[in-house]
Amino acid sequence: KVYTDYFFYEPAFNTHDGGYIPLEDTDVSPQKLKVPELLTPDKETDTDMYYTVISQAGEANIMPGQATQTWGYNQSLLGKTILFKRGKNIHVTVKNELPELTTYHWHGLNVPGDIDGGCHTPVYPGESKILNFKCDQPAATLWLHAHPCPSTAEQVWHGLATAVVVKDEHEATLPIPRNYGVDDIPVILQDRHFDENNQWDYKADYDPDGVQGPTAMINGTVNPYFDVTTQKVRLRLLDGANRREWRLHFSDDLEFTQIAGDGSLLTHPVKFTHLMITCAERQEIVVDFGNYKAGDEVVLYSDDVAIMHFRIHDYAKDDSVIPDTLFEMNTPEVTKDTAVRHVVMSGMDEEVALDGKKFDMERIDAKQTMGNCEIWEVTNTNDCEGGMVHPFHMHGCQFEVLDRNGHAPYPNETGLKDTIGVNPDETVRFKAWFDHPGIFMYHCHIIEHEDGGMMAQIQVDDPENPQEFHLTKMDEL
Ligand code: C2O
Ligand code: CU
Ligand code: CU
Repeated sequence: KVYTDYFFYEPAFNTHDGGYIPLEDTDVSPQKLKVPELLTPDKETDTDMYYTVISQAGEANIMPGQATQTWGYNQSLLGKTILFKRGKNIHVTVKNELPELTTYHWHGLNVPGDIDGGCHTPVYPGESKILNFKCDQPAATLWLHAHPCPSTAEQVWHGLATAVVVKDEHEATLPIPRNYGVDDIPVILQDRHFDENNQWDYKADYDPDGVQGPTAMINGTVNPYFDVTTQKVRLRLLDGANRREWRLHFSDDLEFTQIAGDGSLLTHPVKFTHLMITCAERQEIVVDFGNYKAGDEVVLYSDDVAIMHFRIHDYAKDDSVIPDTLFEMNTPEVTKDTAVRHVVMSGMDEEVALDGKKFDMERIDAKQTMGNCEIWEVTNTNDCEGGMVHPFHMHGCQFEVLDRNGHAPYPNETGLKDTIGVNPDETVRFKAWFDHPGIFMYHCHIIEHEDGGMMAQIQVDDPENPQEFHLTKMDEL
């Protein structure tokens, strides 16, 4: 079976709301896609990996003419891809060379609250900090981004976002592309408005429902092309936009296969011609260019705007077949005693709230015991006329989606997820459990909604090792 539409709920598309800014075709001439290099470890042993991640300001040549003032990790814009190998002890020195405080949030990483990098763990300008943790989760595409409250949106807009790849032994045995930079690349989807001096003026473009721009930017490249030198290419799609959903499809309605979501491979591969991705989600797809020959070009569109080109070169024939089973879910059972937790996302613009409240750093909104599985029921009370999809995200865990308004989830919502688009007037249910203690945020990942208060925090306690958690106060920031 091949899915040929987005199977999302059309009236909920972001195109229907008043402030929506459609993407526009660009007249910038095609540029080679920037594929972020892999960050070189400072040191790696059989058991440990050491990295240094520096937040820094700089400038990047994105548009013809003047350079854009940007922020990034270890480079001027976005960052290098950070590789964690499952089973290893990871040591990351994070350093802040920016003029303001930031945090280092590992979106999707299963780590204790003090490593997670939410708003209680600021790193002040000029300071650094060492994060030590064990990587123990399935192969996946995660990401690192800034998360200081309430300026996450502005810092991400400046460029503080980069891909994180977890590798494991299971994924390594599958016949899927994994030659990084050649047939396996991150595709970080963002949109920007460039002013007449090629700058990003966040304040001028501010919209409480999420800042947008008409120009698609992929891995920091406008109007990119990628040179295809293998029959099959694996794209690690990451919606790194502040509020934009992307409705993706290729020229010739080329079919492709989704193999992974946010936190793991999918249980089974799913074939599509059209695919929608909402803020902060990841979707790994394998595109087979076997019907094309050297000199051909394949175009990737979002809605009707060409956002990326694939230039086909000679390649060796590749008959490998993606297996029918990619991943076994091994998640806690639900019983009649499983606790059910309700969460409500409401409002739009400045009115956004979570459970009727605005985020407060000094208030714990919920508690869950480490290791206990609960059913989370997340409702979006926006109505279908002009409401929005609110992409709900949880820190510190990966969840298993059960249903949407009582119906089966979408076919690519198998596997582990940490972010899920909740449509207007919809309730999504999933099973969630935490493997580590700490304070974790959960929120809408339209980043201006998060900064605007559509966020709460949960305290996860380890009964064998009770801890006092330090809550940073707003005025300490
Ligand atoms: Cu992607 Cu609270 O973050
Ligand atoms: Cu996160
Ligand atoms: Cu929202």
